[in-house]
Amino acid sequence: MRGPSLAVKGGILLAAVFVALKFVLPLLTAPLPMSLIYLYLFLTIIGIVVYGTLSGESTEALLGPIFRFLSGEGIGGAVKSARLAVLVLFPLLVGWQTYGGLAPNTQPPAESRTIHPAPPGEFVGLSNPLPNTPENVMMGTGLYAAYCLPCHGPKFNGNGAASDGFNPPPANFADPGTIAMLQESYLFWRIKKGGVGLSVEGHPWKSAMPRWEVELSDDQIWKIIMAEYAGAGQKPRTWE
Ligand code: HEC
Repeated sequence: MRGPSLAVKGGILLAAVFVALKFVLPLLTAPLPMSLIYLYLFLTIIGIVVYGTLSGESTEALLGPIFRFLSGEGIGGAVKSARLAVLVLFPLLVGWQTYGGLAPNTQPPAESRTIHPAPPGEFVGLSNPLPNTPENVMMGTGLYAAYCLPCHGPKFNGNGAASDGFNPPPANFADPGTIAMLQESYLFWRIKKGGVGLSVEGHPWKSAMPRWEVELSDDQIWKIIMAEYAGAGQKPRTWE
């Protein structure tokens, strides 16, 4: 009767170590990564085997029940069914794990696009050199209507006729998350250099924002920026 108890004790010890590392330890401190838990379980098994094989008698006490269980010799009915279940389920488990590790994943990888990356140094700290006069705003509004409205929309909310199908969509200037929280120098950079001017973390290859430095002079861009702010400032509520 001392025989089976050593194998069973080893199994209980293994389960206890697992429960302690996986469920009890996280209550006291940070959880351990699974790879580390497997490593500790492996070391525990080595300890059990070393302890169990110290003498011929204990070796038989440790390994005898395991071999009898696996070979099916001299075990009773209930244990026989348990053995059958283990012999069927274990290969299935290994197969399932292998399949899970190798099967191609159809989930697209998570994206972390930085919407407002830092502008290049030469644009930092620029301020609008033109006076904020009604004429300049009016000129800017006209330029906006000609160049930007198809995408960014007549109401500055990114809802232009051509905006459908762009991902990311054209920026919504009425949204407090865009121009309201950005400096004019940032807008100047984005309008001048467009999507292709974005740094890698801004996913430049996805942006449909054109670079306007060829079509528009610096003064025209500054006037458009004025018009964007004036437009957004005049009727913020109706654009929500
Ligand atoms: C072909 C459609 C299209 C046109 C035309 C267009 N844009 Fe854009 N714009 C976009 C898209 C798409 C984005 C969002 C992706 C990005 O940030 O690059 C964007 C982003 C911007 C941003 C960045 C806002 C932010 O929160 O970072 C500014 C500023 C901007 N556009 C201004 C303009 C101005 C000014 C014009 C006209 C001179 C213009 N756009 C014309 C498509 C367009």
